[in-house]
Amino acid sequence: MHDQQQHQDFHAAIEACDDRILNPQGLPDNPGRRQIIKGGLTLSMLALLAPGLSACQRQANAKTNKLLGFQSVEAQTSHSFDSVIVPPGYRAEAFFSWGDPVLAQAPQWRADASEDWQAQLLQAGDNHDGMHFFPFADEPDNHGLLVINHEYINPTLHPNGPSEYLRDDGSRQRPLQEVLKEQAAHGISIIELRRDADGRWQRVFGDFNRRISSLTPMRISGPLAGDLRLCTASDPTGLEVIGTLNNCAMGVTPWGTYLACEENFHNYFVNRDRTDHAQRAEHQRYGIAAGSSSRYYAWESVDPRFDATPIPQQPHQGHVNEPNRFGWVVEIDPFDPISTPRKLTAMGRLGRECAVCSLSEDGRMAFYSGDDARGEYVWKFVPDGRHDPLDPTASRDLLDSGTLYAARFDANGRGQWLALHHGDGPLIAANGFPDQQAVLLNARGAADLLGATPMDRPEWVAVNPLNRDVYVSLTNNHLRGSEFALDAANPRPNNLHGQILRWSEDGADPTALNFDWELFLLAGDAPGAVDAGGHPVAEELVGTIEGDCFSSPDGLAFDADGRLWIQTDADDEAPHTYNIGCNQLLCADPVSREVKRFLVGPWGAEITGITWSPDYRTLWVNVQHPGISYPASDGQSRPRSTTVMITREDGGVIGT
Ligand code: FEO
Ligand code: CA
Ligand code: CA
Ligand code: CA
Repeated sequence: MHDQQQHQDFHAAIEACDDRILNPQGLPDNPGRRQIIKGGLTLSMLALLAPGLSACQRQANAKTNKLLGFQSVEAQTSHSFDSVIVPPGYRAEAFFSWGDPVLAQAPQWRADASEDWQAQLLQAGDNHDGMHFFPFADEPDNHGLLVINHEYINPTLHPNGPSEYLRDDGSRQRPLQEVLKEQAAHGISIIELRRDADGRWQRVFGDFNRRISSLTPMRISGPLAGDLRLCTASDPTGLEVIGTLNNCAMGVTPWGTYLACEENFHNYFVNRDRTDHAQRAEHQRYGIAAGSSSRYYAWESVDPRFDATPIPQQPHQGHVNEPNRFGWVVEIDPFDPISTPRKLTAMGRLGRECAVCSLSEDGRMAFYSGDDARGEYVWKFVPDGRHDPLDPTASRDLLDSGTLYAARFDANGRGQWLALHHGDGPLIAANGFPDQQAVLLNARGAADLLGATPMDRPEWVAVNPLNRDVYVSLTNNHLRGSEFALDAANPRPNNLHGQILRWSEDGADPTALNFDWELFLLAGDAPGAVDAGGHPVAEELVGTIEGDCFSSPDGLAFDADGRLWIQTDADDEAPHTYNIGCNQLLCADPVSREVKRFLVGPWGAEITGITWSPDYRTLWVNVQHPGISYPASDGQSRPRSTTVMITREDGGVIGT
């Protein structure tokens, strides 16, 4: 039915986007950076110190850990593994798959994927990613809204994969109906859930259900609203943009809104004027394609908004500014189904993975984010105002003004937040920053000048509710040590397995300007692990995990008890994941650092997106782009990205 090889090639192409062009300045040459991690231990010394590690194929050590009360599951290294496994006593069920009805009038999904874009607009989008359960106040444990990002599309969206042909000029031509279906399959689903009398969650078709897509009108708010640099031929006001793209991870505000983040938006645009592209920082620094076509989708062949080539002598005509209208945090009120989503320009334009809130007792806040490309930065945004829980509607505009910071991780274990203030230091007109709007639009370029630390692809951030320590997953970077200099926070050459780093803001204050940081773990194989040929794996593939091994941490979240849940996005076809296999959900104790594997997903899939019911007795995670035929909610064989629901057979709290 579908072409497995084509599926894998397409996905690999998107995930392996060459980020070298995204860091054209290269790396700051900082002689203070040393190949150490905190305390002066070298990588190999740390590996030796990691005690009692088991091989990946075996279960975690038998040490009893009160926090991690489940029996860990084994890694799955077979290419034909096509299921989800969870610990004994747990149940995992496919719950909400691509094509499932979101709105009551949606047609049933067809196993041949023959439905049109209008049907797709009523159904679940593709590639489920970050998500959050918002409870209703009157019945929080039994009634809520599940809000789910749909990051991008798989070739299986179309009956026989995407079709295109080459034009004489070398550009690609796509059929309009396919492009519209792809745009409809992006965005966000909002679905109402209710526990029935038997205690089972049911999807409800009420007034709150909603699909937001790449075709949904949104408002631009904050300092760039109405700015000339956001004006296009289709929106001369610079106030309204059509659609959101590549919504990866997310955040939740203390006032109950959802923050969908726009990650790899650059893949959707092209600037055919290479000379213009080279000098237009908001294209070049963000990886917009220069040449005949956008990187993957070629939507520009039928939708001129995605052709960002300037029109000579008419700088604000055409769509040269359209890429400036993506890369933002999008705020959505799930409880107001007719509300207009807002793109929040004060928070800065990034390849934005997430926007995770840390809130202090007195209402001060930070929203943390990764910018997921090789050599990009860790960020936080501190609103000017404070949140007052007694007056939540007064918080509605808090994300429209504040300070954006990029992180510098120093080798001595201290770190500093570098403010992106126009007029301070190098952020002046002579360097391409004539005003604060220019700083927000090219936040990456501004952070380059400030000397932020280029990281190994920063993904999700999570805040420990017990002490406000902040964790970030640095998923991997095979160019570390070659194109990117080694440093204390990114200490591993040819970093194929990634690491998790954590910091404590001074005074546990989310708005602090300085912090203490350390590496929480380096992912990878256990000491003594061997490769497919029976030879010891290379030193740089050995991690410091105490417990079950994994590669390429991505999703991160804490539950209320302070368990750190870790989701992985490794290339399960790659030789270096020979011992680790399929992607997984693991659980870590932040104090002992013990890690136990809780779930393994089907071959070819990423495990991403995590949320709980308020009583923590139901856990939802997403299986994104399963590679074979993982049974979705209808049991049919075409692989479908799916939200999986996990409960305990005894109804207990997950993980205990
Ligand atoms: Fe869409 Fe960085 O993961
Ligand atoms: Ca991710
Ligand atoms: Ca990833
Ligand atoms: Ca992904």
